[in-house]
Amino acid sequence: MNGKSNEGQIKFWNEGPGSKWVKHQVGLDACFAKVSEHLLSKCSFQSNMEVVDIGCGAGATCFDLVGVNEEEINVTGVDVSKPLIEHAKGRLEKSGLTGISFKLMDVQNDQFPRQQYDLMVSRFGCMFFTNPVKAFKNIAQSIKPNGAMHFACWSTLDSNPWFSIPKSVAEARLGEGAPSAPREPGPMAFADHDYLGTILTEAGLSQFSLSNEKVIISTSYTIEEMALLASSLGPTVRLLNEKGGSEDDRKAIEEGVVDGFEQYKTSNGIEVPATIVFVSVLI
Ligand SMILES: C[S@@+](CC[C@H](N)C(=O)[O-])C[C@H]1O[C@@H](n2cnc3c(N)ncnc32)[C@H](O)[C@@H]1O
Repeated sequence: MNGKSNEGQIKFWNEGPGSKWVKHQVGLDACFAKVSEHLLSKCSFQSNMEVVDIGCGAGATCFDLVGVNEEEINVTGVDVSKPLIEHAKGRLEKSGLTGISFKLMDVQNDQFPRQQYDLMVSRFGCMFFTNPVKAFKNIAQSIKPNGAMHFACWSTLDSNPWFSIPKSVAEARLGEGAPSAPREPGPMAFADHDYLGTILTEAGLSQFSLSNEKVIISTSYTIEEMALLASSLGPTVRLLNEKGGSEDDRKAIEEGVVDGFEQYKTSNGIEVPATIVFVSVLI
């Protein structure tokens, strides 16, 4: 396992991609609502419990946690991206909700308080650590004995047309990108259960379960809007950046993704199947 600093990821989430998540927050939250539903259904809640949301982004899971919970809980959302944390704080102010706070921090390298939280949750916020063992050790020591961690990650590219269709369309237009280093931080970094299991074990965690579950990405959005969202993330953006893709390339890719998503049109709108790795850890 490498001991590299997280500077590259911090830069990444504080520049273009962080701002993209801010720009598309409403659409992305609508798309991933079912992932949150699955994730939160795995958690048990008690009154006054302290919850931490790792890589909270614009705060979707924090708002869901407080919104759907009958128990009074306190949620701290932590993230390394200033634009996303600022956006989350703005949403909080407008919502009038209490029991939520947001904090800018690198969960891999910045100190967490010891045994502060009863529960850790994360929707797609744990796959971007350059040293995941260090990050999970750091997170785990902030959880109280008998506490739990529940997080969601993407499974393989092949089982997630949300990413694979835009990526193939972009490759057809721009050519293939440079091969990425194995296990590089990114959306699919934890698709391999054996690899993720090894990381958790090396971080000192022994009681965990991992399961692949099918979830639908669906919204009331048009196919064009869904194509725009899917083309604005992950491997497609990486390729566009690497190849210096133009505005015309971007538009052509979105049109190609509209064609690729046609097969997912249903009477309820666009329903893109996804495979998500859900991870539960007992401390
Ligand atoms: C794919 S986004 C998910 C955001 C949010 N959980 C959601 O589902 O909308 C990944 C998030 O992880 C955050 N992140 C990546 N590395 C991090 C680190 N080392 N410490 C804290 N947050 C991190 C990013 O800034 C980003 O907001």
